[in-house]
Amino acid sequence: MLKKIAGLSSEQKEMLLKKIGYSTGKAGEEASKPVPAKPVDWDCFSCSMGNPGSLNISFEEAKVADPQEGYLQVRAKAASLNYRDLMIAMGQYPESPGVPSNMGSDYSGVVTRVGKGVDGIREGDEVIALSAGTFIDGKVQPGSHFINVFNVSELQLVPKPPGLSFADAAAIPTVFHTAFSALVRLANIAGGESVLIHTATGGVGLAAIEIARWKKAEIYATAGSPEKREFLKQKGIVHPMDSRSLSFGDEIMELTGGRGVDVLLNTLSGDAMMKGIEILAPFGRFIQLDKKDIASNTLLPMTLFRKGITFAVLDISLYLLRPAKLKEQLMEITRLFNEGVFKPLPCVTYPVGDLKEALTAMSRSKHIGKLVLIYPC
Ligand SMILES: NC(=O)c1ccc[n+]([C@@H]2O[C@H](COP(=O)([O-])OP(=O)(O)OC[C@H]3O[C@@H](n4cnc5c(N)ncnc54)[C@H](OP(=O)(O)O)[C@@H]3O)[C@@H](O)[C@H]2O)c1
Repeated sequence: MLKKIAGLSSEQKEMLLKKIGYSTGKAGEEASKPVPAKPVDWDCFSCSMGNPGSLNISFEEAKVADPQEGYLQVRAKAASLNYRDLMIAMGQYPESPGVPSNMGSDYSGVVTRVGKGVDGIREGDEVIALSAGTFIDGKVQPGSHFINVFNVSELQLVPKPPGLSFADAAAIPTVFHTAFSALVRLANIAGGESVLIHTATGGVGLAAIEIARWKKAEIYATAGSPEKREFLKQKGIVHPMDSRSLSFGDEIMELTGGRGVDVLLNTLSGDAMMKGIEILAPFGRFIQLDKKDIASNTLLPMTLFRKGITFAVLDISLYLLRPAKLKEQLMEITRLFNEGVFKPLPCVTYPVGDLKEALTAMSRSKHIGKLVLIYPC
């Protein structure tokens, strides 16, 4: 059954998704519906990605030890893809210091074992986890790509909102945590302020729209194709702009009467990043999510800061080194889902055995919302 999500009827959404060329998966399909065949016969498995860039995906048996003190064991029901997964598969991911670069970080599933010292979570509980690998005795333990059974610290896991399917729940952690950290914690966005959200039909972009609406901010947005911009219009964004050219700069200045925007959530690199800084209003906050310019050590002329703007860099994988903060924020986000403030993002689901197809779809960049892998029971 297709759901009505964030102002779009299921028919409108399906039509748009068809138009942008989906052939596998179904928009907004409930996680419980397809019970995919196991990609392998093993009870515990993970994925092996072959040479970086080849997308030569295969599955292999995984071994999982009992959970240590403070840890739980989770059997995945669903896992969502993030842009970082594609970059890791392509061998292009700029690593974050001290954080493992495994594909697969956003899971929903069921707790199967509880380690000593864990209170309040029991076997059988349905949970959401953000885990790119575990930390034992302060050290990162390398994990496995899109593993189906894993041990995770109680600080990297929260109860799944009961009203959400496993697919919808797996779509939450990274993108909502990123958009929340950026707009609420770093930009401290206030009601009536304006925000420009780049590549707004992606996971982070759509989560940012949910958060900006909750904060009653005025939303401007860009996207990379007429179909994506049409999707944004149907979500109530009045003047969606192009994310693949620099024309958004002049358009923003015109739309804001020459003032610029208070906050910019930046997923673009190079000249588009520079253009973004130029169109900030006095006291504006620029939140840098894209890692390319950091990896290539792009320099910023100091004159860009003359309007008293703030340039903040967010790398949410570093939160895995501060899991207590991560937990606090995920609790806040899931509370807002439970209260119906945040709505689930559009999802296209794939059986986990079709990981290669899902990564290929992400690389084509026609998707709207999240791509979610469904695990066998
Ligand atoms: N710093 C952090 O902590 C952090 C955390 C999460 C995500 N991010 C970054 O935020 C961005 C969005 O992430 P996401 O998870 O929302 O990804 P997503 O759902 O896949 O969206 C990515 C968007 O990037 C745009 N894009 C531009 N060039 C592309 C290319 N060559 N291949 C594929 N997509 C391309 C596309 O938008 P258009 O077609 O509209 O241009 C696409 O929809 C990524 O750059 C990601 O690395 C950063």
